[in-house]
Amino acid sequence: MNNLLYGLAWILVLALLLSMSVGHQRASNLPSVDSTLSETYELDSTVLTLSTVASNLNATWDMAWGPDNWIWFTDQDGKVSRLNPETGQIIELLQIQDYYRKRLGLMSMVLHPDFESHPQVFINYSHIQSDSSIVSRLVRYTYDGKRLVNPLLLYQIPGYLGHNGSRLVISQNRKILWATGDLKQKETVQNPTYPNGKVLRLNLDGTIPKDNPYPGSPVWSMGFRVPQGLTYTVNGNLFIAEHGDATDDEVNLVTKRASYGWPYIAGFCDQPDEQGNCPDSAVAPVKAWTPTIAPAGMDYYNGTIPEWKNALLLTTLKDQSLRVLHLDARQEKIISESVVFSGKYGRLRDVCVSPAGDIYISTSNRDWNPPASFPIKTDDRIIRIRKSGTIPQSMQTAKVQSQAGTSNAASLYQSYCESCHKGDGRGVAGSFPSLVTSTRLAGEKSTLIKFLLKGSQSSAGEAMPAFSFLSDVQLAAISSYARDKFAKGAPGVSADEVARARKSSK
Ligand code: HEC
Repeated sequence: MNNLLYGLAWILVLALLLSMSVGHQRASNLPSVDSTLSETYELDSTVLTLSTVASNLNATWDMAWGPDNWIWFTDQDGKVSRLNPETGQIIELLQIQDYYRKRLGLMSMVLHPDFESHPQVFINYSHIQSDSSIVSRLVRYTYDGKRLVNPLLLYQIPGYLGHNGSRLVISQNRKILWATGDLKQKETVQNPTYPNGKVLRLNLDGTIPKDNPYPGSPVWSMGFRVPQGLTYTVNGNLFIAEHGDATDDEVNLVTKRASYGWPYIAGFCDQPDEQGNCPDSAVAPVKAWTPTIAPAGMDYYNGTIPEWKNALLLTTLKDQSLRVLHLDARQEKIISESVVFSGKYGRLRDVCVSPAGDIYISTSNRDWNPPASFPIKTDDRIIRIRKSGTIPQSMQTAKVQSQAGTSNAASLYQSYCESCHKGDGRGVAGSFPSLVTSTRLAGEKSTLIKFLLKGSQSSAGEAMPAFSFLSDVQLAAISSYARDKFAKGAPGVSADEVARARKSSK
């Protein structure tokens, strides 16, 4: 009897344990995505396939496309690795010993552009010294075919637990550009003798170039808060993305000696307490966001996805999205923005474009500030975005017809045209012509479409951007909307008509 009770008790305990463990599994059953995850996403005319190419990573901060067609990447725990994006194989190249991970750790990395003759990798990480002060190190390693070896400290600046930045790029003329954070020391951001809140510029051996604006100083431009995005466009313009404080995240076009306002100005000089304070010399941002989105890595895109050609791709942490910032033909202004993948993958830290036009994004859900419902089991991940198909013209036309005159066409007009021609179409006298009185808008369709595709420069020197990056469907919707609203009676434009005009203007 005793034995029987004993046995029953054990069975009960076991059953209880089992149910608890099942219950526990259920409780922690976060949105689980397996590492071969693959799903599609539709743009106006393009189908994208998204695939997880690496998982179980640890806050991947930086990705660079290597000369070996592998992705070289860093994680915040001091590791540099190579990833074969086709097979998923990962090979570790380096585990830094002297990094300090508290909030930050290992951050950015850039490969020597002449890698064959100079197999060098430049990395930036936090380090704590014996007196407990934190520094930010720029170190050059050499790739021996297997590992990163022979570290050489090129430059060292003060660091902090946060607000370090950073991002590294190398210019065409072989200088290293290094975006640094303000270290929460606002007083020194506008002072060129301090390296915080700056874009620094160094020779690849760590010495200071003779043509820097402040002799003997690495400072190239200043007035940044927490920059984590830095990239060149194909025509050589340098863009930086930075975190604002309570308001105004920014993208800026970086030029020599320029100052971008922080800490006196956040975003545009548009607040009462800023206006008395804005020096003429402060350069306005190319774009600013309030509420903030927490922008991180940024790359220029001109690949095979037609909707995204000639754009800056910007990852965001807080907003958990990829931002497509469409540039004008001169790659100086952002003419519109599309937001994709909102909330799908959590925090996004970096983006990398392959020569074939694929895009890779890295998540950062295992950093110090994970969002609700992340990390998922397979975080952190590197996800590939690849064009996998085109939506047939007939379906695109159906899409437009169902959208004609609806809020979608209105929102296209709002994102692409309204900043100049205004919501009522009346423009800005002396700068942007009125569409209400425009014979071009009301006139022959193919002439109008060709004008929109090509853009124009007014005699007053104002530019109308070329809208050839928009899909046939989008252009049809915008022109139909504008003609309906501002050129009363002018018939709508179909996607086929746009396609024909596009062909004949080539
Ligand atoms: C960055 C400012 C800007 C944006 C954005 C812009 N335009 Fe324009 N637009 C101009 C300028 C400047 C001109 C005058 C060009 C000229 O004189 O050659 C112009 C001219 C035009 C005209 C001809 C007006 C006339 O004089 O008959 C039309 C039509 C037009 N735009 C439509 C559009 C549409 C549709 C969009 C959105 C897809 C758009 N524009 C976006 C600046 C802009």
